[in-house]
Amino acid sequence: MKVTVIGSGVMGHGIAELAAIAGNEVWMNDISTEILQQAMERIKWSLSKLRESGSLKEGVEQVLARIHPETDQAQALKGSDFVIEAVKEDLELKRTIFRNAEAHASPSAVLATNTSSLPISEIASVLKSPQRVVGMHFFNPPVLMPLVEIVRGKDTSDEVVKTTAEMAKSMNKETIVVKDVPGFFVNRVLLRIMEAGCYLVEKGIASIQEVDSSAIEELGFPMGVFLLADYTGLDIGYSVWKAVTARGFKAFPCSSTEKLVSQGKLGVKSGSGYYQYPSPGKFVRP
Ligand code: 3HC
Repeated sequence: MKVTVIGSGVMGHGIAELAAIAGNEVWMNDISTEILQQAMERIKWSLSKLRESGSLKEGVEQVLARIHPETDQAQALKGSDFVIEAVKEDLELKRTIFRNAEAHASPSAVLATNTSSLPISEIASVLKSPQRVVGMHFFNPPVLMPLVEIVRGKDTSDEVVKTTAEMAKSMNKETIVVKDVPGFFVNRVLLRIMEAGCYLVEKGIASIQEVDSSAIEELGFPMGVFLLADYTGLDIGYSVWKAVTARGFKAFPCSSTEKLVSQGKLGVKSGSGYYQYPSPGKFVRP
């Protein structure tokens, strides 16, 4: 199968990697060769880690050979059977990409978006074939996180939901099918958890470290609430909050996140956020 992944950032490169491990020929598209080169290096690193741990049966180079970096979006989409868009949370940009996909991909291709927060029905509303648009929401890091949320838009067909679930299963993921409500399922829960942590810190009831330690020690989370926010990217969390509250989900603002984002402190990727990271982009537990 020809799979096209549009966007090769934190999520896109991991999704392309998963699609290639599943045996597909993958066209990975982004706006420059430098960005695609970086994505290929991250995929190579990740494949090597999977190989080391025994969870990758094939050789790293064999999987890499199925990933084709491509800056020409029309070329990447040409005749594609399954498109997954993973670009920034910009409604018009996503609509433009899917219009392009309608023009160049196979007429029966699934058009999946990895959006964290934008309604599937809003993205699909400008297309000729909205029944092909579906949410396929991965979690960071896509290669390790076991769940994919499949979001059924107002017009998404049953067949598209089924094909998307099969694609996720071929990537070894568990799936849940959720409604197209603000934040879908997982981010609605995560926002509530983040809100609770922020409330405790901003009211002076607990420190960031205390909230994070209790999340790990008492609740059994793999990461504390604030560390996870840094890991995901504070700009991402903030944009999810903005998109879902603009669409009627009531969540209190976390003023510390807003302040850090305005200062360009975005978490792991920028080297500082709630915690400090000596090598920006490289996650080392603080
Ligand atoms: N590919 C392959 N291996 C990777 C990897 C990747 N992308 N990322 C990390 N690893 C490896 C590490 O190198 C490490 O290998 P080592 O043991 O040989 O050193 C191993 O995986 C374990 O990683 P860590 O030592 O860093 O630590 P953890 O055991 O804590 O595992 C984690 C990392 C899986 C990220 C775990 O901490 C976790 O599950 N955290 C929660 C993540 C989460 O909740 N994500 C969802 C965020 S919300 C979201 O994405 C939605 C969006 O819409 C906002």
